Formats: sequence, structure tokens, C-alpha cells
Amino acid sequence: MEFDDVVLGRRSIRGYLDKPVPQALIREVLGLALRAPTSYNTQPWNFFVVSGAVLDRIRRGNVERTLAGVPDSREFRTGPDYAGAHRERQIGVAKQLFAAMGIARDDKAGRQDWVLRGFRQFDAPVSIVVTYDRAIYGSDVAPFDCGGVVNALVNAAWSRGLGCVINSQGIMQSPVVRAEAGIPDDQVIQTCVAMGWPDDSFPANAVVSHRRSVDQAAVFVGFDD
Ligand SMILES: Cc1cc2nc3c(=O)[nH]c(=O)nc-3n(C[C@H](O)[C@H](O)[C@H](O)COP(=O)(O)O)c2cc1C
Repeated sequence: MEFDDVVLGRRSIRGYLDKPVPQALIREVLGLALRAPTSYNTQPWNFFVVSGAVLDRIRRGNVERTLAGVPDSREFRTGPDYAGAHRERQIGVAKQLFAAMGIARDDKAGRQDWVLRGFRQFDAPVSIVVTYDRAIYGSDVAPFDCGGVVNALVNAAWSRGLGCVINSQGIMQSPVVRAEAGIPDDQVIQTCVAMGWPDDSFPANAVVSHRRSVDQAAVFVGFDD
């Protein structure tokens, strides 16, 4: 696949075929992602690739604790609630997804089901938990580096026919993820990426989210043309 086809074609995948992903293919995708740049080439990240019964226990624990009202225990600062343009964009993509799925505004059960799917990592066959070394906890650079590698990861996966969704909901109950995946204390959990073969009949998979234009996002300074 051409670079443009990957970048322009990729979208988050939230419905997967019930078909395993070969470990060799995940290794190939990770190998590509690991070419991502990092600050001083520190490569502070690690990947815990989870599948099968372990992933099912993570899903169960995540859902049970969330339904029981256990507060979010993600291991990073989330900052203030989104407002203004950020909130509008957040609502914009949610509207696109709900429209595709036929979930009406007042359909509380449908909305709840959608949220729980997220906590189940959309029933993907694989979840890649991305961590970084606790020795540099407190630096904003490490999460930045993780963002770079995760972007490379989802694009590399797409180039091989695999779909992903970066899934903050999946690590909302980080102690469950840590215990089940055997993540040592010297690692900080940053995010997880659900991965699998896209189910093309799943309506939300067709959603193409909007982007700001270059003119809206960029300022050019010092150019003559
Ligand atoms: C840090 C991060 C966390 C995300 N967490 C979730 C999530 O918990 N649930 C979800 O459905 N999508 C999640 N997403 C996916 C975004 O909603 C998605 O990337 C965005 O709407 C743009 O859509 P696209 O990926 O299809 O281009 C997350 C993306 C990022 C980068």
C-alpha cells in the first residue's frame, strides 16, 4: 500500500471478525511501529500484547468495576473536561458513530451498550497495552513518544489489512490490566490499542471522522511564496 492510501484510508475500527491474528503478523507490525522517532532515541515504550483468556478477564474486570462505579484509575493526568471547539469535535464524531449504528439520542440502552463495548475493547481479538519506563514518570516527553509509536502502530497495522482503535476506555481500570497482563511496577500504563481483522459489515467501521484543514491548523511564518 502507498503511504497516502494508508494515512487517508485508516480509520478507527470498532467491530472485528472472530478470527485470530497470527503472532508473526503482530510482530511484523510492531517492528514497523518501532521505527517511530523518540526524544534522544530513548525508546521508553514497551508493549504487552494480550489475547485469549487473559484479554477476556481484562474485559470482564474493566466492565464489572466500571458498572460498580469504581473511579477511573488511568495513570496519567486527563486535564479539564473538553469545552468549546474540542467538545464540539468530540460530539461530532460521537454523532457520526451513533448515526452509523442507528443509536438515537434518547436511546439510553443503546448508548450504554456502546459505552460497554468500548470497555470491552470492542471485543477485539488482540489488545496491545502500551507502557513506558517509570524511571521517567513525570516527563511529558514519554507520553509524547508513546503517541508517536501508537500512530505508527495503527498505520502499520492498516497497511497489513488489520484494524485498530486506540482505546483509552480499555485501560480505564488500569489495576485490572496490570494484574492480568502481568505488567511490572516499573512500567506506567499509557494506553491500549485494540486490534483485529475489520468486520466490514459493522456500520461504525465505515465512519470517516472529520479533520481541520491545513489552513485552519497551521500558521506559516517567513515564507515568500
Ligand atoms: C489517546 C486516544 C484515546 C482514544 N480512546 C478511545 C476510546 O476510549 N474509545 C473509542 O471508541 N475511541 C477512542 N479513540 C479513537 C478516537 O475517537 C479516534 O481516533 C478519533 O475519533 C478519530 O477517528 P479515526 O481514528 O477514525 O480517524 C482514542 C484515540 C486516541 C488518540
